[in-house]
Amino acid sequence: MESSQSPRASATSADALPVTLPPAGRLGVRVELDPRDVDASLGPALRALVYEHKLVTFPECELTTREHIAFARALGEPQIYFQHNYHHPDHPEIFVSSNIPHDGKKVGVAGTGRYWHTDYQFFPEPLPLTTVLPRVVPSGERATCFIDMERVLRELPEALHPFVDGRARHEAKWRYKIQPCDVDKSITEILEEFGALTPAVTHPTVITHPVHGRKLLYVSRGFTVALEEWPPDVSMKALGELFDFVEHEAHVHREPWRPGRMLLWDNRQLVHMAAGGSHREPAESHRVGVYDGLPFYADEPRGRLAS
Ligand SMILES: [Fe+2]
Repeated sequence: MESSQSPRASATSADALPVTLPPAGRLGVRVELDPRDVDASLGPALRALVYEHKLVTFPECELTTREHIAFARALGEPQIYFQHNYHHPDHPEIFVSSNIPHDGKKVGVAGTGRYWHTDYQFFPEPLPLTTVLPRVVPSGERATCFIDMERVLRELPEALHPFVDGRARHEAKWRYKIQPCDVDKSITEILEEFGALTPAVTHPTVITHPVHGRKLLYVSRGFTVALEEWPPDVSMKALGELFDFVEHEAHVHREPWRPGRMLLWDNRQLVHMAAGGSHREPAESHRVGVYDGLPFYADEPRGRLAS
């Protein structure tokens, strides 16, 4: 980065960062910062940027795993994913999505997140921020797709308003990926075991962002299984209609992957889905989740970095 562009003079404001804004109506912002130059002094400004624009992309660079973790640490507390089979062998903070063996051994999990979801929605304390670094990109267009849930809520048809007034239930067990330790277990046993590890949780169907106070629809086809206040048949029908509206083609932003081009997003405001690429071609990406020290939504218990 050129010294004349240094944002450090007033690093708590997103305005201090050198950014390229997208065309009107497009999601996300590109920040002209090498992630290796981001330290704790830039964390507040970068967090402000992602809260404002929801999705931030960076210039391509060759980041080591340690540098990726250091970048995440500048933003908050890196997450250790609750399932060990996703971990990088040397760095548990790195969640590995890969179909490439390392030294002949399977590393991480292949084909993750190919459904609309938001990270850790099925936990009492969801994950606020996600960083993803594509490392090996297949030849076909590989991308992460995003939907802006503030916009979706703003445009929600009136007929669906009564269904977003309460709480929604979220569950992970239907997305469990079979592991070698599951051999000889029945599907029922596997679901019971994983269901006990990740009991269903509820969150408000519309959440309030803890920083700027905007309202956001907080459901996803991947993890949301019921609307609490409605009978099961009504809930199922209404959720289907909600998901169909959320996932309308006009709402989908596609962010193509480039090797070494990091993505950072706010899980409170976006749902996302892995898309494109061939399952047969080598592909690898590294994710580090970040707890930003704020409650996931306003008026709820505070997050883990808060005093
Ligand atoms: Fe995800």
